Amino acid sequence: MIVDIILFIIALYLLWWFLIAKPSKFPPGPPRWPIVGSFYYTRKWGPYLYQSTATMKKLYGDVVGFYLGPTPVVLVSGLDAIKELSFRDDLAGRPTLMLHRVLKEVHGLLFTSGERWKEQRRFSLRHLRDFGFGKSSMENITIEEIESVFAEIDKSLEGKKPEEWSNPIVVHEILGPANINILWHILAGVRFSFSDPYLNKLLGFIKENIATNELGGKLEFAFPTLALLFPFLTDVPARHKRGREISDFMTTYIEEHKKNLDPENPRDFMDIYITEMNKRRDDPASSFTDKQLLGIGRDLFFAGYDTTFNTIVFSLLYMILNPDIQKKVQDELDEVIGKDRLPSFQDRDSHLIPYTEATVLEILRSSTVVPLSVPHAPLMAQKDIEFRGYVIPKDSTILVNLHQLHHDPKIWGDPENFRPERFLNAEGKVIRNEAYMPFGVGKRSCLGEALARNNVYLFFACLMQRYSMRVPEGEPLPSVNPVGNITIMPNEYKIQVRRRY
Ligand code: HEM
Repeated sequence: MIVDIILFIIALYLLWWFLIAKPSKFPPGPPRWPIVGSFYYTRKWGPYLYQSTATMKKLYGDVVGFYLGPTPVVLVSGLDAIKELSFRDDLAGRPTLMLHRVLKEVHGLLFTSGERWKEQRRFSLRHLRDFGFGKSSMENITIEEIESVFAEIDKSLEGKKPEEWSNPIVVHEILGPANINILWHILAGVRFSFSDPYLNKLLGFIKENIATNELGGKLEFAFPTLALLFPFLTDVPARHKRGREISDFMTTYIEEHKKNLDPENPRDFMDIYITEMNKRRDDPASSFTDKQLLGIGRDLFFAGYDTTFNTIVFSLLYMILNPDIQKKVQDELDEVIGKDRLPSFQDRDSHLIPYTEATVLEILRSSTVVPLSVPHAPLMAQKDIEFRGYVIPKDSTILVNLHQLHHDPKIWGDPENFRPERFLNAEGKVIRNEAYMPFGVGKRSCLGEALARNNVYLFFACLMQRYSMRVPEGEPLPSVNPVGNITIMPNEYKIQVRRRY
């Protein structure tokens, strides 16, 4: 009897130990509790994961290990550690999401790894550049979308005298369609009208899929086995369904492109991709497939839409909260560009409007809309990896603490202040800071950086040139504290505008 009790206690102890044990040389971090992992602590230090990571860095250093459910998570902070991680081949993988486990496949650019990802990334980067990523030819397309936003804003000024302020406008409602249109133009050469019901449905799908992403702390991330056994308890089926709707929508366009393809005169990225697919048709190892094209299209929507949109939404928020900065930007635009033409890429690239340029850099730093980057993972899921004297277990998710880096007082002095001057030297010329990396760096850095920088700049400069903006009279100041997990944005807020010309 005594022996049974002792064996039972040992078994209980071993079970307990198994549930809370961490691998040897696992980075220091908050305790791991059975089943829930370190969830209590991440919640205690902030409602969103990206908020608790600043406390974790303070308490445990640049490499922190903790658990979300049974999943080991390694948080990497600080300039040197982030750079080291970002340039290492063996840490350039991505974690396998529950959706990919359920579907038993992963396509596209965001969550693929290895040779297939390398080939597809290289190809996409080269050809997306031809169709507008970072190209001046994109300027006209972007301006067309900005003018549609002007038209929406002007509706709130109907019946007002020139000196009068508009009716209040919800910023989140006026910018979305324009941003989708720019991406869709590059991919499929098509533009939707702002009132197109399908465009709005598509926007809804993309927003919901981002909002319910498991990396934002969903049940399936913490309890993968439970989610595999009972997927109906999670958002996975709904996400899958929305993903299928988006794929069906794209497939219609892919089929149309296949029918009307002229390989000598590609109209857009789809034409280029289908031509490459046809060239490699007889190669059974080819990574150029219909599914991969669908995956790339979906990823560009998911990675490109929300990020750019959120940043532009932040830009107007910073301007109504900092009217003196708004005025400085407008004075510079008036002096250099005047009011007879819109700002151009050339104005920025020739550094003719340094204050505006510095303000855009500050918008990207201060907002850091992808606060923990897109998670990395050990490239080979079979092997633990050594990093800065610690071991990163093979099935870990790695978070890159970009938000903390952009808000570190040791680097920026007064990071919580919105101050474009931090990006200007004594002569008023734009300067960079090594710790500025809203698009990540290294092997998996943002594929759409050039497009995003152009869009944020042009939307911002054109809106500033045309309108003065303010917090609606009698309303409280909106908060700059963002909401979200994988990508963040301000809560809905309103502005009043007045035409400047
Ligand atoms: C302000 C806007 C944007 C920000 C702040 C941003 C930021 C980022 C960040 C931090 C990463 C992860 C880097 C890493 O894993 O180390 C990333 C990846 C990525 N971004 Fe962006 N992004 C933006 C806009 C865009 C746009 C417009 C597109 C394309 C249309 C895009 C496409 C991608 C893709 C495909 C990846 C994955 C790259 C890979 O895994 O190889 N992004 N982005």
